[in-house]
Amino acid sequence: MDHILMLKKMVCLLSCQPRNLQSQLNDALDCLLAATSALATGILWPDANGFIQLRAQSPLNFFADPKSWRNFTNPDNPDALTWGQEAYAWLAAPMKVGGTPIGRLWVVDHVGRNFDQNDREFIMMAGNQLALAIENSRLYEEVQRLAIKRGELLRRVIATQDERCRRISRELHDEISQSLTAMSLDIEAIDLDDQLRHHPVLQRLSHMRPRLQTALKEINRIILDLRPTLLDDMGLIAAIRWFAMQRLGTSGVNVHIDCSDPAINPESHVETTLYRIAQEAINNIARHAHARNVWLSYQKTNHTIQLSIRDDGCGFDPEAVMNQPDDRKGIGLFGMQERASVIGACTQINSAPGQGTCILVRYPAREFKAG
Ligand SMILES: Nc1ncnc2c1ncn2[C@@H]1O[C@H](COP(=O)(O)OP(=O)(O)OP(=O)(O)O)[C@@H](O)[C@H]1O
Ligand SMILES: [Mg+2]
Repeated sequence: MDHILMLKKMVCLLSCQPRNLQSQLNDALDCLLAATSALATGILWPDANGFIQLRAQSPLNFFADPKSWRNFTNPDNPDALTWGQEAYAWLAAPMKVGGTPIGRLWVVDHVGRNFDQNDREFIMMAGNQLALAIENSRLYEEVQRLAIKRGELLRRVIATQDERCRRISRELHDEISQSLTAMSLDIEAIDLDDQLRHHPVLQRLSHMRPRLQTALKEINRIILDLRPTLLDDMGLIAAIRWFAMQRLGTSGVNVHIDCSDPAINPESHVETTLYRIAQEAINNIARHAHARNVWLSYQKTNHTIQLSIRDDGCGFDPEAVMNQPDDRKGIGLFGMQERASVIGACTQINSAPGQGTCILVRYPAREFKAG
């Protein structure tokens, strides 16, 4: 059988999806046997503790004699192709990752078989292809594991951040805001006192009242920005509407709201996430879009909650923004997608220069608390 053809077939087998490494290795070894017409072949590869083990073999019922086995597992030169004749004729090639021999690919046949130059080159190349496939699979699993950890870490960071916002807003409300209100009322009381009203010092004091009220307004704005109590009191839509009016309404943008079923209330952490995504989308509209209209929509379709924030502004190229080399750019958009993925929702960023922007979040609804 043509060695080059077989090598091509092996490479295809090893790179195809879905990634079930064990069956890929078995198929590749069958290919190797077909190419060399040998008796048996196998892969030796270190396990998680670094001990060399039989990783795959074809056929499964073959047992090498102990001497050949020692030659496979302890070659004189792990970097080179080795061969010999004991109970069987054998050939063993290093399986290298990044130039370092990690495992060994062996082939055996009946005594007297002379593996020719073609066989040797084929085994060397096959060894390296198999090593690459095993290493890729390890890296793939590693990436999957890290992605799960990253998701969990993100979930905790978001939860901690939300809890901190909630605490700071409560403290600002309970301590500072209350004290400022009390001071403002004290000054008002003095102001109403006919005897004190015309005292020069108290006149200056009464000038402080409007400043106190401005500070109070500002603190209330910060409290609401940190954690709109509306989210707890009136639900997601009212909170988003309030934020959109605060951020956009004052600069003349028309905000249109379409909410099919205000009674849908997902779990509180989902609401918070949807609110934060809307907040970022609205901030982006205020900062970048130059829009005249914004449409906020919150709909429940079949088993899905769908939130969309659309504007008729200047639009942009999402691919270009997300793939630009400066990793600090596009963090707001990336953060939206990450927040969504933590709750199992998916995001779509639809935009193009001159075409406006639409941010769509779909959350697979499970059970909702009654609103
Ligand atoms: N609604 C929008 N209309 C027009 N351009 C937008 C819109 N939303 C995002 N963009 C473009 O995409 C870029 C990336 O947005 P992103 O939210 O990731 O970052 P940012 O807003 O620039 O900074 P931040 O990290 O503070 O959010 C923006 O700089 C802007 O060019
Ligand atoms: Mg942004």
